[in-house]
Amino acid sequence: MKIWNWDWLQSKAFYRTGKICTGSTYTFLLHVKPSVSDPGQSREWNSSVYHRLSQPQVSWGRRVLSRLRLRGDEQLLDAGCGTGRLTAELIAALPRGRVVGADLSRNMLMEARDHLRGAHVSLVAADLLHLPFEHAFDGIVSTAAFHWVLDHHRLFVSLRRALRPGGWLHAQCGGGPNLARLRNRVGKLARTSLYAPHLALFTEPWFFAGDKQAAEMLRQAGFVNVETSVEAAPAILDDAQQYEEFVSNIILHAHLREIPSEELRKKFVAELTAQAATDDPPYSLDYWRLNLSGSVT
Ligand SMILES: C[S@@+](CC[C@H](N)C(=O)[O-])C[C@H]1O[C@@H](n2cnc3c(N)ncnc32)[C@H](O)[C@@H]1O
Repeated sequence: MKIWNWDWLQSKAFYRTGKICTGSTYTFLLHVKPSVSDPGQSREWNSSVYHRLSQPQVSWGRRVLSRLRLRGDEQLLDAGCGTGRLTAELIAALPRGRVVGADLSRNMLMEARDHLRGAHVSLVAADLLHLPFEHAFDGIVSTAAFHWVLDHHRLFVSLRRALRPGGWLHAQCGGGPNLARLRNRVGKLARTSLYAPHLALFTEPWFFAGDKQAAEMLRQAGFVNVETSVEAAPAILDDAQQYEEFVSNIILHAHLREIPSEELRKKFVAELTAQAATDDPPYSLDYWRLNLSGSVT
């Protein structure tokens, strides 16, 4: 596997020409600190746990992929590719095409590199708000990522810029009343005396847009043929142990980073897990998904 560095790519004006690795099969991972919107905030994930437990995200993502009408020769961007479980399915659908996976998390990209080893794919460390692409893709696919980006207007402008004329976006992320019950419990717990010193000033790291709001922002960014919808997508976890692991690593990792001791972090998640045991069904997560699509002229 060949690893290219950023300087080389920049010097060849690789992205700006819109040419993406036509030619031989290889994977590259940029060993650079990407230009980030919020450099102070760690964007890292426990990628091996995400890879193992992301069945809900993979199931939702598969439904998004099933809506694509692909010829098989497109050049596509998987925006916020994570560990590459869905990227692999996109690659399989493009025998004559090419997929670039972009993500801000090194851990996610390293896991994706291992998962996609040998595949015809490129992996790029990049912030979706500052994508280093211009008129480069026939389409952009994104699943379970956009709600981690707080400025959707800048996000959609960055995505539109990366698309060729006639290019399209098919995406899904958290939206509407996503995780309202869990967030309400987290908010109450965060205000108690044990956690308030660490979490009182913490603001949620997500933006859950409504369908109309998202449609408006897509149009403002220059997308046409915009369609958006919100749907319930509850996930039921097996037991208390899986719930704790899932919530700690996939939903509340940014919150937990604010709590300085392991003992207190465990107590925080154990309290939420005890509350989730009383739900009907127990250990269910009240997920809602926002579907977004549009194209550029
Ligand atoms: C829940 S994971 C989804 C991964 C994959 N698309 C899936 O459906 O399994 C969200 C991903 O979005 C990435 N992400 C969040 N904010 C980002 C940003 N500003 N730029 C690039 N990637 C970002 C995270 O690093 C993470 O890998």
